Amino acid sequence: MRILSGIQPSGILHAGNYFGMMKPSIELQEQGEAFYFIADYHSMTSLTDAKLRREYTQRVAIDFLACGLDPKKAVLFKQSDVPEHVELSWMLSSVCPMGLLERCHSYKDKLAKGISPNHGLFAYPVLMAADILIYDADVVPVGQDQKQHVEVTRDLANKFNDLYGETFVVPAPRIRGDVAKVPGIDGGKMSKSYNNTIDIFGEEKAIKKRIMSIVMDSRGMDEPKPDAEENNAIQILKHVADKETYEATVEALKAGGYGYGHVKKKLFECYWEHFADARKRREELLANLDFVDQVLREGAEKARNIASVVNKRARVACGLE
Ligand code: TYM
Repeated sequence: MRILSGIQPSGILHAGNYFGMMKPSIELQEQGEAFYFIADYHSMTSLTDAKLRREYTQRVAIDFLACGLDPKKAVLFKQSDVPEHVELSWMLSSVCPMGLLERCHSYKDKLAKGISPNHGLFAYPVLMAADILIYDADVVPVGQDQKQHVEVTRDLANKFNDLYGETFVVPAPRIRGDVAKVPGIDGGKMSKSYNNTIDIFGEEKAIKKRIMSIVMDSRGMDEPKPDAEENNAIQILKHVADKETYEATVEALKAGGYGYGHVKKKLFECYWEHFADARKRREELLANLDFVDQVLREGAEKARNIASVVNKRARVACGLE
């Protein structure tokens, strides 16, 4: 089984990216041939600061390694180190109906927010299809918001295969139900663009402040809360607390007499503790940036070995060679 996923270097790692994609991806490194990349080409559609792109790209690599990606098991690389992605993206663009892209929610959401779209933003799912197809990937671990993009990938793979003969493996998204949509502090999907994120490697005080500002409903402390599992803070607690702590907190809320302030304090303690080892590893990596660069360099070489073969297969299939 070949596994592939990507993450944009467009901000600081937050609990949505971590639980939605990074953690499941790290777990999957034990189960197949895993390829994970930093989608720096994709970040160009929204981030226009070159210095920040370099910084965020390195940060994603550091964070991924700190969280447990093992470069002996998984290939970690930077998308733009494998320029074949862009060539394949052109081949796929030419079999991609405009309507397919016009229907994409993430594009429509950005339009609705008043963002004036560039061509890169419109063509974003085509490059994403190339990212996936160029590794003959079977499984793509993503959060719910990327599901439609993986469906576009399947459509384009089938279309190309129909037109030019069997060329691509048709991949499937792998979305873990429990982390499909990690809520932010306002209860909506956690996302940098909604300014509702909780960082993974932020300052202790800042993380505490974010957690204490999670929006709760207005029911008083004594009131029983039979829907405790749906509470924003409880949903995040589930990921960072041990089973007993999680269950005891849910039960206490259900029974009534346990305030939301307690829940948030508990959440902060568990959250901070949950990332203690990763924080330590991250400090070590920050003192050894040559190692991080080397992982990316070697990753790019391994990735390119595969990408160049699939790209050539596509070039031959459609008559470029
Ligand atoms: P990006 O960088 O926006 O997010 C990285 C991953 O994190 C997931 N995610 C979430 N999951 C659950 N709850 C949340 N609140 C949450 N926020 C983010 C996203 O679903 C994603 O899996 N287009 C991709 C990057 C990409 C890619 C690819 C992914 C480029 N090429 C090829 C897979 C395969 C993106 O922008 O992810």
